[in-house]
Amino acid sequence: MRASILCLPGDGIGPEVTQAALQVLGAVGAHFGHDFLFTEALIGGAALRRGEPALPPATLALARSADAILLGAVGDPAFDTSDSSRRPEAALLGLRRALGLFANLRPARVWPGLEDDGPLKADILRGTDLLVVRELTGGLYYGEPRGIESDGTAAVNTLRYSRHEIERIARVAFEWARRRRQRVTSVDKANVLEVSRLWRGTVTEVAADYPDVALEHMYVDACAMKLALAPASFDVILTENLFGDILSDEAGAVVGSLGLLPSASLGEGPGLFEPVHGSAPDIAGRSLANPVGAIASAAMLLDHLGLGAEARAVDAAIGATLQQGVRTADIRGNTKAATTREVAAAIVDRLRSVSPEGG
Ligand code: IPM
Ligand code: MN
Repeated sequence: MRASILCLPGDGIGPEVTQAALQVLGAVGAHFGHDFLFTEALIGGAALRRGEPALPPATLALARSADAILLGAVGDPAFDTSDSSRRPEAALLGLRRALGLFANLRPARVWPGLEDDGPLKADILRGTDLLVVRELTGGLYYGEPRGIESDGTAAVNTLRYSRHEIERIARVAFEWARRRRQRVTSVDKANVLEVSRLWRGTVTEVAADYPDVALEHMYVDACAMKLALAPASFDVILTENLFGDILSDEAGAVVGSLGLLPSASLGEGPGLFEPVHGSAPDIAGRSLANPVGAIASAAMLLDHLGLGAEARAVDAAIGATLQQGVRTADIRGNTKAATTREVAAAIVDRLRSVSPEGG
């Protein structure tokens, strides 16, 4: 297969984790005989620092014409006091919106051998394997009107969802549930918010088309609690933009580190694949960052391109590497912490030892 992959390293630890993921993709290409064409472009603080907008038009044009996009992270404290449009985060929000990436998939599972290394008791964690399906182009992140009133005494954001937006993300969740354990937990705040009542009603309607999938509704506060008390009880969690942002960080902590979590953002055009973690400026440039989130995102990218066996090979190499004890410092346990580069090299080594037939 030939595929053009645009890499957007971004800020903080973004460059080092995307570097690790590109090494893995390069190894997959060489080992399985695929022709991946990599290009790179600026985004976020990295673009702002060069006097460009956070999302340069050239980056957006490259993104539109790529087969897939691999992103590191955006976020740079130097721009913390800038207004919304001149913040690194605006680039990511703009890219998601411009490419229509409404469906954000965030799988979280406990990797074999890590059951004792998370913050929860192994008994509670064991068997955790969930998928957060987060709506990504609506809700409070994009609603108008928004802004800080000119006298600075108040500010406003708008929560709005159309039936259409709810229905299409619900279908994504039900389709994934069919490929998994046939259960959807739809998360809302219907006891308080009208938007959540529309959400609940619409999801219930969509569920009628999926009689083989069990649907339950849960308030977001209860869900946050249950994620910590019984994470293994979830299969697919379907939710809106802000709730999904919050619950996916919690899911990361539950399985041992946010640094382990990958994501795929999908719409009609090219998909965007990025680790769930942020730019972590405090540890940037020191080879301390966990590259697993980025590498597992690369696996999701391969799967989305139709290279399922290759994706499974990458996941297996990650699993074997973690189980062997080659882990960065964010994962607890009594092993000596490995660097970003060491973890990536171990995963690449493992990959080279699997048969290209996907066995
Ligand atoms: C994420 C991030 C982003 C979000 C930020 C960087 C805009 O936290 O992908 O979860 O809030 O969606
Ligand atoms: Mn987030």
